[in-house]
Amino acid sequence: MTDQPLIDLLKKLTLEEKIGQLLQLAAPFFEGTGTDGQITGPMASMGITEDIVKHTGSVLGLSGAKETIAAQQAHMKKNRLGIPLLVMADIIHGYKTIFPVPLAIGCSWDMEAAERSAEIAAAEASAAGVHVTFSPMVDLVRDPRWGRVMETTGEDAYLNGEFARAFVRGYQGKDLKHDLTRLAACVKHFAAYGAGEGGRDYNTVDMSERQMREYYLPAYQAALDEGAELVMTAFNTVDGIPAAGNKRLMRDLLRQEWGFQGVVISDWGAVKEMIPHGVAADEAEAACKAMLAGVDIEMMTTCYENHLKELVESGEIEEALIDEAVLRILQLKQKLGLFDRPFRGADPDRERDIVMSAEHRQAAREIATKSCVLLKNDSVLPLNREQKVAVIGPFAQNGDILGPWSWLGSKDETVQLIDGLKSKTDASRILTAEGSGIETVTEEQLEEALRTARHADVIVLALGEHSDMSGEAGSRADIRLPQAQLKLTARLKAAGKPMVAVLFNGRPLDLHGIYDVADAVLEAWYPGTEGGAAVADLLYGDRNPSGRLTMSFPFAVGQVPVYYNHFNTGRPQGVPDAQVRYVSQYLDIPNEPLYPFGYGLGYTTFGYSNPAISSGVMTVDQPLTVTVHVTNTGSVAGEEVVQLYVRDLSGEVVRPVKELKDFRKIKLQPGETQEVSFQLTEEQLRYHHADLAFASDAGKFSVFVGANSRDVQELEFRLDK
Ligand code: BGC
Repeated sequence: MTDQPLIDLLKKLTLEEKIGQLLQLAAPFFEGTGTDGQITGPMASMGITEDIVKHTGSVLGLSGAKETIAAQQAHMKKNRLGIPLLVMADIIHGYKTIFPVPLAIGCSWDMEAAERSAEIAAAEASAAGVHVTFSPMVDLVRDPRWGRVMETTGEDAYLNGEFARAFVRGYQGKDLKHDLTRLAACVKHFAAYGAGEGGRDYNTVDMSERQMREYYLPAYQAALDEGAELVMTAFNTVDGIPAAGNKRLMRDLLRQEWGFQGVVISDWGAVKEMIPHGVAADEAEAACKAMLAGVDIEMMTTCYENHLKELVESGEIEEALIDEAVLRILQLKQKLGLFDRPFRGADPDRERDIVMSAEHRQAAREIATKSCVLLKNDSVLPLNREQKVAVIGPFAQNGDILGPWSWLGSKDETVQLIDGLKSKTDASRILTAEGSGIETVTEEQLEEALRTARHADVIVLALGEHSDMSGEAGSRADIRLPQAQLKLTARLKAAGKPMVAVLFNGRPLDLHGIYDVADAVLEAWYPGTEGGAAVADLLYGDRNPSGRLTMSFPFAVGQVPVYYNHFNTGRPQGVPDAQVRYVSQYLDIPNEPLYPFGYGLGYTTFGYSNPAISSGVMTVDQPLTVTVHVTNTGSVAGEEVVQLYVRDLSGEVVRPVKELKDFRKIKLQPGETQEVSFQLTEEQLRYHHADLAFASDAGKFSVFVGANSRDVQELEFRLDK
């Protein structure tokens, strides 16, 4: 179909039918989803009738080949013109084969791995009948109190943009219409959802436009540049106006300035939430504002459904605006080939063959080994197979390591840590005790754990957060592990055995009580379906940890937000002639995070030498080459993420003390040296000026190369323009 048939189709729709295309309802409203379309209970109280359902344009949270085929068939029969439903779902880090959470994937610094994870998620979900995934979430984050930091790849705008592209490539492939193993991607949450005040979910966001353009917008833009088909609005305000009603954000920036032609969908209930936000007195006003601002699909509330018709009749909304929105939705259906193949990839046989296939599980294991970050290791790891290991703690035998956004993942089919460890050595060498619950502990549990630990050579302490302790609506003000687990850790010290803490959680934590007690700390995040196997690969040294943090671990929550690309201030710490007191600092804790951005250890060490720059002067036509020699100075092969940062020392606007510009992930054999070389161009030095112009400044710059944002070697150059 070209656009003309779609326009002809649009012309055949009544106003009610058009408005129906703008509504998205959850799966239980539809016949064939196990409910027979019976609208009862809370669904009925939403005022949704069967008549409304038959006009509805899209469904949320439906999956399973049989169910989606049945629902589509039933819907197309009821819908007067047989317009197929769009099937959307949150396939965030895997469909049933669950990959590590996105923050963990971020720590792999591996774009191919990220792309592959999205490709597999798309293959499984599309076989189960899904058309659109509400992913990638690319919100930049600086506050680990926010539970949703696990859904993003971290605190750096450049890296988030690279991951955004990789995920979109993986989901969408090159030809959505014919490649039925792919999904359309919906980038979210537009905009700046990650900057909620105090790390509290859904909270106010207020920042300068410059700040937003500089740090928060680039990743959404990168996803769109890579072809993401949809955008989801955020729950928060942006400059005082809720995103779902923010015309500047959607019509002026997204559509006009960026030229986005795809579908904009509200987040769940966000149109109606303009009422409690206080910018709409009632549903009609909320509908009017959202439509004028450019929301095409209203998710799960019915302001459009109940009020757009009267708004058109009263002249407050031009029908042409509705037509534009409907056409975009029809175009997406066409792009996905739904008019020719309404079931698209849904195929029970294929679903059975590929979902959780050995190949997919293997890929999940592989990515999980790349995503864990070794934070500390005082010569305890790797374990050797002769050692007796006491695996203790609430995550020793626990399948709840998939993360909060894995609604289709099965905890029962997840490899637990204890099983991963037992697969590496004679099972009799693996002892275990519960030690504590996640938030509770008894004296008996502690005593039993201590007794078990005394019989072992080494303790593997499996700690973490319950999956409900992060994710949506999972903000926490105290980001230490629960007291019960700190108590267990302290008590086990009395066993006098080397102790390895393995952490299963969804955010950077305040690790006091863990990092200062344990001899080694491995941050495993929520590692997914193959989590226990992947962690065991790392603990026994079958794989060498290579993950590097993409979000700083604070020293204490009082530092938050703490991120590597901060400003220096006029009174930085550490200047030799500064008065000791009157500098920008805390009196009671360091300014620096406990573990900085880019940080991570492995079982070998790397030396950096001979940093060099091809010239002291860069011009617009003359990029520079920065080189450094990296040597594997240890005794096993290992991977290193060589990082390049820049600082502008005489910008018009104050620039961060460091900004990541490039990186290389390299693998070196023991004793091997590689020269790593980066090209640095004038374009990479551009930023948003006071007048929002995106340009570079002539003048002095520092360039840094090193293993993380803290441990670097510095060179200088000048940009001449
Ligand atoms: C979340 C979105 C999600 C949507 C649909 C919302 O509550 O904020 O990220 O895609 O629900 O499930």
